[in-house]
Amino acid sequence: MTALAIAADHAGVALKAELVTELKKLGHEVIDLGPDSTASVDYPDFATRVTDLVVKGTPALGILICGTGIGMSIAANKVHGIRAAICRTEFEARATRQHNDANVLCLGQRVTGGGVALEIAKVFLTTSFEGGRHQARIDKVKALEAKR
Ligand code: RB5
Repeated sequence: MTALAIAADHAGVALKAELVTELKKLGHEVIDLGPDSTASVDYPDFATRVTDLVVKGTPALGILICGTGIGMSIAANKVHGIRAAICRTEFEARATRQHNDANVLCLGQRVTGGGVALEIAKVFLTTSFEGGRHQARIDKVKALEAKR
């Protein structure tokens, strides 16, 4: 099974709790980096909790949840080495692992229901990067990062 770090903001904390429970039941190793309440917090603070670990590869994958998934993805994608993808469908989750080697899944609690979000997360956590022609594209993304 897969190790992952997960965090949210106040608008994603309920979906986070649901995913933590269900992903643990499935045997995934889940590192829950908060928050534990619905008190208002700022999504960049919790995005970096996950990205700090994922850039080191321990664990290699993360999940970030806010109201829309958008704020978390904007914040996470500022971090060199992070490829964060907002996914609304299993198709996107599969494609972004296979083609983009995405290492952070972003979900929106106000957009995606718990059942669908769990299926998306399961696909994201169990799908591998295909490499090949996609690796050359990732290398170009890394070259863009290096220019910043
Ligand atoms: C919080 O109200 C909301 O703005 C946040 O969770 C997120 O959706 C931002 O992108």
